[in-house]
Amino acid sequence: MSATSVVGLQWGDEAKGKIVDLLTDQHDIVVRYQGGNNAGHTVVFEGKKYKLSLLPAGILRRGVVSVVAPGVVIHPQALLGEIEQVRSQGVAVSGDNLLISDRAHVIFPYHMAEEAVFERSQKQNAIGTTMRGIGTCYRDKAGRIHAIRMGDLFHPDMFRARLTEIVAQKNIILRALSSDGDFRPFDANAIADEYLGYAAQLKSHVMDTTQFLHRELDAGKRLLFEGAQGSLLDIDHGTFPFVTSSNSSGCGIHNGSGVPERRISRMIGVVKAYTTRVGGGPFPTELDNEIGQHIRDVGHEYGTVTGRPRRCGWFDAVAARYGARLSGIDCLAVMLVDVLSQLDEISVCVAYEINGERTIDFPSHITDLAAAKPVYETLPGWKRDVSAVRRVNDFPAETRRYLDTISTLIGFPVEIMSVGPDREQTIFCD
Ligand code: IMP
Repeated sequence: MSATSVVGLQWGDEAKGKIVDLLTDQHDIVVRYQGGNNAGHTVVFEGKKYKLSLLPAGILRRGVVSVVAPGVVIHPQALLGEIEQVRSQGVAVSGDNLLISDRAHVIFPYHMAEEAVFERSQKQNAIGTTMRGIGTCYRDKAGRIHAIRMGDLFHPDMFRARLTEIVAQKNIILRALSSDGDFRPFDANAIADEYLGYAAQLKSHVMDTTQFLHRELDAGKRLLFEGAQGSLLDIDHGTFPFVTSSNSSGCGIHNGSGVPERRISRMIGVVKAYTTRVGGGPFPTELDNEIGQHIRDVGHEYGTVTGRPRRCGWFDAVAARYGARLSGIDCLAVMLVDVLSQLDEISVCVAYEINGERTIDFPSHITDLAAAKPVYETLPGWKRDVSAVRRVNDFPAETRRYLDTISTLIGFPVEIMSVGPDREQTIFCD
């Protein structure tokens, strides 16, 4: 049994892509199991930069099969655009190395239109979504009557008939909700033609990936699961309602891929050496000051998909500890350690004070999280460039103390540390 999983323990953007990329050559198959083109990461491979969103990082390796599993929502045009992009950079993509589940749900233009209407209607409580139609597609999946899966695109008559009914209802809803009066109804036949065209281009990739994964596991193949977003954005266990619409913690692996979690032998929890968040929602350790701006500038903390500046703050061990326990990790990867190098002092949130009570338990209700005041332990900074460090013992004592503090507070060993974007800038504990 050899399946590894890489999952973010914070609010996403933990640089999971780098860890997945590093581990890919020890695996045969890389599986993406939730989310859609709301996720995005940049992978530097053999000196070239690749921007990936729906495609698993395994696509860059010859001999590795990439699987987009049932729990992912697919915008076919975005997927085809990404395939075209990596092909133009010399990556071979075929039905042999990219498999897409016929159970995965499909994003249509009305999903984006609905999301725009709903997000705009929120004055105070906008989720701050990526506007990619992710949540509205998952909503239709749960509702079923408006849902279309990849497999449906290969039954053209049934697909066109269903889409005609769905679009008629969507047009009624959208017209009623549009405030500006310039709503232009969607044309079901035009969308059907467009999507049947995408289906023809994706035909060689679409299959029952669940059966494929079961067969390959039985044959002893090594699987690597690539999580998108982070544990605290999990629809069921995250900071609801300021979450994404899938199970983005380790909880999503089983339902998203069809592979039982008990087949996973190693679960790596990825954190940044600080905390970031994009979009709305409480963020107890947020630094709305020059230190936050410093972290944003040095860490290039701007969204890969939307370009939005990320909210930055101190490491929140209460939140990360909860993410770690939720996802069932074995060890930690601490990323972007180098970003903190110039700071005189570095604080870590070790507990929350909520309505006068101190706790290390992450609150289940958003009002309690909003009321949480971070209790900090402040450590000395190391004030030295660590980007060239390649062994733990070569870190300044202050950096080691900082990493030990994180490890103790979360309760798991730090096994991987990253001090820069290159593959070489990664330190593995023996
Ligand atoms: P959605 O996933 O587009 O519905 O957005 C819901 C929330 O999740 C928003 O706060 C987004 O900013 C956040 N989100 C979605 N994808 C990512 C990601 O890849 N990294 C960080 N935040 C994300």
